[in-house]
Amino acid sequence: MSTGTVAWRSPSNIAIIKYWGKHGVQLPRNSSISFTLSTAFTDTRIEFGESNKPHISYLYDGKMNEAFAPRVIKFIHSLHGEIPILSGLDLRIDSVNSFPHSSGIASSASFMSSLALCLCEIEAQITGAELDMQKVSHIARLGSGSACRSIFPVLGLWGSHDGVEASSDLHAIAMADKAAEVYADYHNDILIVSSEKKSVSSTAGHALMDGHVYEAARYAQARSNMSQCLEALKSGDAHALGRILEEEALSLHGLMMNSSSSYILLKPKTLTAIERIKGYREETGHPLYFSLDAGPNLHLLYPASIREAVLPWRREHLDPLCERVLEDRVGEGPINLIS
Ligand code: DP6
Repeated sequence: MSTGTVAWRSPSNIAIIKYWGKHGVQLPRNSSISFTLSTAFTDTRIEFGESNKPHISYLYDGKMNEAFAPRVIKFIHSLHGEIPILSGLDLRIDSVNSFPHSSGIASSASFMSSLALCLCEIEAQITGAELDMQKVSHIARLGSGSACRSIFPVLGLWGSHDGVEASSDLHAIAMADKAAEVYADYHNDILIVSSEKKSVSSTAGHALMDGHVYEAARYAQARSNMSQCLEALKSGDAHALGRILEEEALSLHGLMMNSSSSYILLKPKTLTAIERIKGYREETGHPLYFSLDAGPNLHLLYPASIREAVLPWRREHLDPLCERVLEDRVGEGPINLIS
């Protein structure tokens, strides 16, 4: 009789080159790369046991989540071909995020990667195999594309890209050893300008890339930015990396504004913050740059060496524009909470 408990902590990530547009079963239209974060994470715990009439339950922070539970259960049922042993198991799943529920931070990357780790570990325990991170990343991708990159320390690259050995559309790969030391403890302050629910989901946004007026141009831009990004990561040139970060963030939002049913997720305060960040850079020459996900909240990225200068300036000029600020940084990837 196989019973047991598995539990994993997995972090969120912030994309440098954005995944925007997909096809088939969660396959990306362009390769993407992200920094793996550390303090924004999801803890997922699963109690499992063999059963003739398998049942799955999902709780968020010990409570029933009517909106999300059916999606989680449907996703696990869809994995019976990938992880056959799941079809004979009862699963009691409980997850909780380190960041506030309505903070405007997307939790799908951290949740889906922690869930994939737990499910693959159950399979590894029952079959006696080693936990295979490539498979974990593959399963996480099926749950949410960006989740497949969170599995790896410091940086994860997803999608096949010329010249990057082993890169694949099916799963992400580790990239930490391809980047200069300066990025290993890069700061990422998350400026929550608005925690309102987004008017258009990422899934709907991806779909609007099909037949987008700038479709071909976007994928050419992403390919070129990826090559330049890999150079900037290798050389440690934080200004070169920052220029790509901002171009990608603004292109993502430009694509939303130019799609056939146009929409805007940026808020006036997002734009004010962007102007102030650029002003700070002009005055100081410091490599302080921003990124954006599919929402109004800014990620402020900078090396640890300028933290002392950035912090008081940020508190005075950016924090007043925000509902809250979450200080995060690049991290070491998932943690097994039971080993
Ligand atoms: C803008 O991974 O949330 O954050 O695969 O539909 O779950 P699904 O989409 P998701 O898209 C994330 C888009 C992004 C850019 C990125 O993280 O690369």
